[in-house]
Amino acid sequence: MSHSRLSRRAFSSSLIAAPLLLKGKPSSVEARVKIDTERTIGEIDPKIYGKFIEMLGRCVDGGIFEPGNSLSDSNGFRTDVLKAVEDLHVSLLRWPGGNFSSNYNWRDGIGPRAERPSRVEMAWGTVEKNQFGTHEFLQYCDTIKTEPYLCANLGTGTWDEAQQWVEYCNYSGDTATTRLRQKNGRQQPWGVKYWGLGNEMDGPWQMGHRSAEDYGKFALEAAKLMKWTDPSVKLIAAGSSNFAADWTGWNRTVLQYLNRHADYLSLHTYVGNRENNYYEFMTSSLELAERTRIAEGIIREAVRDTPDHKIYIAWDEWNVWYRARGEGKEKGRRILEEQYNLEDALVVATFLNTFLNNAHIVKIANLAQLVNVIAPIFTNDTGLFLQTIYYPILLFANNSFGKSLELFVDSATFPSKHFGDVPYLDISAALDNGTLVLNLVNRHLTDKLPVTLELEDKQFSGAFEVSTVNGPDIKSQNTFGSGPVKIANSRVDASGTRLRYELPPHSYTMLKGKLT
Ligand code: AHR
Repeated sequence: MSHSRLSRRAFSSSLIAAPLLLKGKPSSVEARVKIDTERTIGEIDPKIYGKFIEMLGRCVDGGIFEPGNSLSDSNGFRTDVLKAVEDLHVSLLRWPGGNFSSNYNWRDGIGPRAERPSRVEMAWGTVEKNQFGTHEFLQYCDTIKTEPYLCANLGTGTWDEAQQWVEYCNYSGDTATTRLRQKNGRQQPWGVKYWGLGNEMDGPWQMGHRSAEDYGKFALEAAKLMKWTDPSVKLIAAGSSNFAADWTGWNRTVLQYLNRHADYLSLHTYVGNRENNYYEFMTSSLELAERTRIAEGIIREAVRDTPDHKIYIAWDEWNVWYRARGEGKEKGRRILEEQYNLEDALVVATFLNTFLNNAHIVKIANLAQLVNVIAPIFTNDTGLFLQTIYYPILLFANNSFGKSLELFVDSATFPSKHFGDVPYLDISAALDNGTLVLNLVNRHLTDKLPVTLELEDKQFSGAFEVSTVNGPDIKSQNTFGSGPVKIANSRVDASGTRLRYELPPHSYTMLKGKLT
């Protein structure tokens, strides 16, 4: 994408909802931001702070759930992990996959644990013992006070299986399926609202992969049965995943079938610094923003004839993931155990900025995944450490709520291969009951970035909290017993309409305070 396209985008506002960029490069490295509290992009849906757990490696088994470990409670939940998860205020939790869900029969995971069958698990090449099933998952969601999101098997599964899973979880009438639920210890339905219509059905790696036409037809019939069983469910259509070539064509075709039944279009993205080029890696969020805009256009086209029905975007798998890909030596239980560094944490912060800057259309986002497997929390048998990416997620999910604001941003830039001149400053703003939260990433590798913040219609009212995620080096990693990448807290005085703040090199900073 050329710089001119980026700039053109900046001046056509309502559909776009990205920070406005001023053309041209100031002579020194600095940035200026104008904030008008009446220029809102949309309500920030707390479900953008969702997470994903899959029956894969040590995510659930050996991460979240470890009966017999002295750190686990009577449900088998690791209490140290529970604490780290609760601090993240997870708003939505997606399970059981991922690729795993495409060969999962939910009936294997209910009833007395000793009687549950072991099955060949073909997504990740192992045996699944089904000790963590529907009841355990929903109990976990209750414990951490999060909304559950179940992904139905639309790979090898049938319409009946999908429909009866909704019936088992949500139906209050007296049926064979609801009696089974009661026999298994749950009298009242749980009322699970969010249901996935399969996972990454566009990919040949997916069990039960089919063409967009075939998936669209199949998912439509599943959707009808699921909504007829419980009209209050919200359905997430399997849109394009990270890897498929014709991703726009897939989304367009799928929505031709599901435009009246899907409430969300699921999109996935994983990024990485494969060429060890810091600045190119720092442009990853521009690709995310571009794909979001294109998907939004496809959605608008799909719902033209159904004005009363809204479809939003669910980025329900996203993260940095390129090292531990499950190939070569890495096998079995310790699979996909990515170790994150500071530059990964900065990319995660820019992704969260992008969700906020598209708050009108991105209403769900699930970080993939939560524990051990490409995750912010990493355990061994006796404890855990928090990976670098944990910290931006923690700050966003605890602070950035309310309305997302559209900003005017004039920043010094760096050249990039695909996105022309890219601003060193990446930023989002959230306004909630007079409290302003600014999320600022300085992408500059070596230089501080002085930023002048100008309020158009309000005043700063007293000190602002400052929380900065940084570390000695962009390659710094946390590990057991050592956490060079963490949050540093301070305060800055703020009054009147202008605030000048200097961002350290390669850092993410959250500024939070009151406006009057
Ligand atoms: O999160 C790991 C895997 O990545 C998921 O199972 C799949 O949906 C995606 O390709």
